[in-house]
Amino acid sequence: MMNHDRFNELFYQDDIAQQPFELWMLVGIIEKMTPWLKTVIEIGVYKGGTLRFWREIVGASGLVIAVDDNARGFMDGLKKQYKGDKVVMLIVGDSKDKKIIDAVHSPLEHRTAGMLFIDGRHVYEHIRSDYHRHMGYVRPGGLIVFHGIRNVEVRRVWDEIVEKHNYAGVYELYDTHNSVGTGVIVTN
Ligand SMILES: C[S@@+](CC[C@H](N)C(=O)[O-])C[C@H]1O[C@@H](n2cnc3c(N)ncnc32)[C@H](O)[C@@H]1O
Repeated sequence: MMNHDRFNELFYQDDIAQQPFELWMLVGIIEKMTPWLKTVIEIGVYKGGTLRFWREIVGASGLVIAVDDNARGFMDGLKKQYKGDKVVMLIVGDSKDKKIIDAVHSPLEHRTAGMLFIDGRHVYEHIRSDYHRHMGYVRPGGLIVFHGIRNVEVRRVWDEIVEKHNYAGVYELYDTHNSVGTGVIVTN
């Protein structure tokens, strides 16, 4: 289990586009619900803030496939940082492009992912696409996480999905300060 000191170390290591209490709650849910977590798909890397958490949680035998369009130019630095790391696989491109979607699925081979973390472009069509293109690759009992459910466009996708599917678990996490909201689905 990640203790709070380690959480803070990772959280404040570099910029991260997360609220601390929301992420702390998410880490707790991941550890309780999916202690077996080994494979993560992340859409939206920015400076690798959440990526370093997933890397730590899945450990040396895991796989984290992370996609970013590199609009802010941090992917080159991250590629250097994770050079030689067999766990982190960085993919640069638009998460809505077929080529990029295929590049995410190809390293999975016959595996499924234990968590899909959606935090890329916060625009309805993109969030919807990120969910629909990858949800089928999440194993039963795995997690699908939407960051920013207080954002109108993320909220629209979140509400549609939660209403349509009878998922095993649906949680909304809110920080006590500047909350953006994190939605967590437990798949069945
Ligand atoms: C909110 S940030 C991710 C934050 C990161 N998960 C963290 O917690 O530190 C969103 C990232 O998604 C990237 N992005 C935006 N649109 C994208 C797209 N269509 N495909 C891939 N990445 C995209 C942005 O460039 C940005 O780096």
